[in-house]
Amino acid sequence: MKAAVVTDFSQPPRYEDFDDPVATGIGRVVVQVLAAGLHPRVRSQAGGFHYTSTGELPLVPGVDAVVRDPDGKLRYRILDDTTRGTMAERTVIELDRSVVLPDTIDPVALAAAMNPAMSSWVALRQRIDFRAGQQVLILGATGNAGRMAIQVAKRFGASRVIAAGRDTAKLAELAALGADEVCTFDQLARAADVDVVIDYVWGDPTGAAIVEILTDRAERSQPLTWLEIGAIAGPEAAIPAAALRAARLQIVGSGIGSVAGRDFVTELPMLAEAVAQGAFDVRARAVPLAAVEQVWTGTAESSDRIVLVP
Ligand SMILES: NC(=O)c1ccc[n+]([C@@H]2O[C@H](COP(=O)([O-])OP(=O)(O)OC[C@H]3O[C@@H](n4cnc5c(N)ncnc54)[C@H](OP(=O)(O)O)[C@@H]3O)[C@@H](O)[C@H]2O)c1
Repeated sequence: MKAAVVTDFSQPPRYEDFDDPVATGIGRVVVQVLAAGLHPRVRSQAGGFHYTSTGELPLVPGVDAVVRDPDGKLRYRILDDTTRGTMAERTVIELDRSVVLPDTIDPVALAAAMNPAMSSWVALRQRIDFRAGQQVLILGATGNAGRMAIQVAKRFGASRVIAAGRDTAKLAELAALGADEVCTFDQLARAADVDVVIDYVWGDPTGAAIVEILTDRAERSQPLTWLEIGAIAGPEAAIPAAALRAARLQIVGSGIGSVAGRDFVTELPMLAEAVAQGAFDVRARAVPLAAVEQVWTGTAESSDRIVLVP
């Protein structure tokens, strides 16, 4: 079969022949891949720098996909860590850990939406006790996951969503998604009294944001839950020790590992149904799998999520 193949972590994947997958074990089947998203997680997997990387090569990247099973049903599946990912004509899934999708679904839109949307959906439902009426700040709101987080927080009843980012043109689009306010990273004083921060950036912007918010907070004993979900600005943030003593700040991570695989699987049908019903604004760009190398290294024409279609 054809697949995107990584043979060197410093090079982009190439469209090449690769051994067909073989399904071994009960409930595992070979499926046809219809659409696989090129998420940041996939880039770090293919570059060998994701925290789950074992360094094993060759590698077919791709962590999730919309697939067609041998009975013709459409399904969505997140793979366990594997060197045989979804950016291929075929892959192997466990049927009981996949989500059956309606026949009417657009595979490209669903493949684009699930990874960024599940980041906030799972975090708010599985990692904290989020309640309707709470106020939310999103750091990194202009990306695919941040845009989804606005919509997810509103869906779960957030009373006020403040969307923060560095690109003012992209920020201006976010009110249409439900953001009550938008601001740049140097305007975070206005978010000083939020209950929950959904953080996709980490690194220096987060270190500065924690100090800014806690300095301007009216009541520092009011709980502030900081959900660490992405680290697009850097893997380390300097958090002053005093921030944890002088305020009721709790930092909680959310991702595979801190959320058990079975808990992700529990959430996925509800999320897939919401996506299928058109509950979210989804930005997707379909690209043939054969063009994986060009799209990997090319300059992004837009921030639409690229979805590879075998
Ligand atoms: N834990 C989970 O479950 C989970 C799930 C999905 C995603 N994630 C993580 O969440 C993060 C965002 O994913 P995504 O899908 O939204 O990616 P994306 O669509 O590529 O968006 C990236 C975002 O990061 C911003 N950004 C990039 N570099 C930055 C910097 N140096 N300082 C400040 N902002 C910066 C971009 O801002 P501009 O618009 O200004 O370029 C954009 O808003 C990634 O780290 C991803 O791995 C985690």
